[in-house]
Amino acid sequence: MNFHILTLFPEMILQGSEASILGRAVKNGHIALHAVDIRDYTTNKHKKVDDYPYGGGAGMLMQAQPVFDAYQSVAKKLGRKDTRVIYMTPQGKRFNQKMARELAGEDELIFLCGHYEGIDERVLEEIVTDYVSIGDYVLTGGELPAMVMIDSIARLVPGVLNNEASADFETFHNDLLEYPQYSRPEEWKGKKVPQVLLSGDHRKISAWRLEQSEIRTRERRPDLYDKYTEKQQAVKVLLKKDKFLYIDMIESMRRGRGELLHANRNGMVVWDDMADIAMLAVFDGEGAEEVVHALPSKKGNEQLIIVHQETLLKKLEGRFHIKKVTPVKHAVYTQKVSLGLSKEITFRTLGLEHLGEIMAHYHMIPDEGYMKERLLAGDIIGAFVQDRLAGFAGTHQEGSIGMLEVYEEYRRMGIAASLEAYLINIHLAYGHTPYGDVLIDNEASLRLQEKLGLCISKEPLYWLTAVEKERKNLLF
Ligand code: ADE
Repeated sequence: MNFHILTLFPEMILQGSEASILGRAVKNGHIALHAVDIRDYTTNKHKKVDDYPYGGGAGMLMQAQPVFDAYQSVAKKLGRKDTRVIYMTPQGKRFNQKMARELAGEDELIFLCGHYEGIDERVLEEIVTDYVSIGDYVLTGGELPAMVMIDSIARLVPGVLNNEASADFETFHNDLLEYPQYSRPEEWKGKKVPQVLLSGDHRKISAWRLEQSEIRTRERRPDLYDKYTEKQQAVKVLLKKDKFLYIDMIESMRRGRGELLHANRNGMVVWDDMADIAMLAVFDGEGAEEVVHALPSKKGNEQLIIVHQETLLKKLEGRFHIKKVTPVKHAVYTQKVSLGLSKEITFRTLGLEHLGEIMAHYHMIPDEGYMKERLLAGDIIGAFVQDRLAGFAGTHQEGSIGMLEVYEEYRRMGIAASLEAYLINIHLAYGHTPYGDVLIDNEASLRLQEKLGLCISKEPLYWLTAVEKERKNLLF
């Protein structure tokens, strides 16, 4: 991933990028930082880049011309004009972990750092796509805020952290702050490491850590804690109603991805912002209208909507053009024990170099962009027999197991079962309840799920692709 920083103080950026994890990521080629000195682009013969504001007022403003030309030099080099340009300003949208995750999906980002009293509005209108603040305080310039953002985005880029799991299991991941941690010695200044952490009992350790996370969040971030308890309550309701049918909504909230957009006794809407998927449930006929209304508007764009009751399909037709309906059932692994794996098969995470082969073999979603994104996320696993790729499977964006394919010549050797078992074990290690979606008439897959001990939801649910209709202007 490439970061381009438009700044009057390039040395501030370069210094910050030499040390520690960012420094290593730059050396390994996972990220690159390019500081562009705005002063190099001024047409003023005295190298001036600022002037007094029209109308009076304190301080100086950065002028439009050098900022614009510095931007154009980057856009030209990239050969495109659609790269996001982030202007660091205390007047922007507040930066958070969700934004970091979203921006980590870009290949290129341009940061614009202001100084003095700001930048001429006209150039901002011309080039800026996002106005972002790192908090409600005013700094002397945008370089430190840009570095804060770059640090938090870069650590989400695959390969930047050595320990891949640590980007996932971290403060904010499950709507809770991280639990306290301890290292050697067992006793320091009379303070002992909590006994449970020395017990070797992983179930007890997990329970203790969750409890500590809850206590800490309640004390330090009551706003986050309220959101967390609201979701816990919603999960309880869904578990009681039908744990197999609603496992996608349950897991989305438990894994800290799903936002609860609407919940009452008649229905519920969970929104997965990272995967851009809405999940809808109605518990009685009256809830359908409210549920459809609670969906965010994505006018003109194709949307994925998961509907858990057939009655909702009719209601959605009022607001959306429904393009495709795919009925599926959930297959859920409710046990906690890992599954045994064949010794003849080795499993490896596949990378972009496998894209061509995957596209050639995969029969289900011939969507290259999606498969590329899944490979980059490290979510596709290959099964190798005598070092030859025999099939693959993976985790979808919203967290279900799928994309299972075994090559023709390797079928009926138990490879599909092994691949799925391997993925189930990974999800168990992350503390998830593993699940997948099966097309309702895919008998072979349903048999495989049952053989592995997964439970199939009784009722079907429906995956929709839909486009929001233009609402008629009621005044005319
Ligand atoms: N520039 C000055 N203060 C800032 C802040 N809080 N966030 C982003 N950019 C800034």
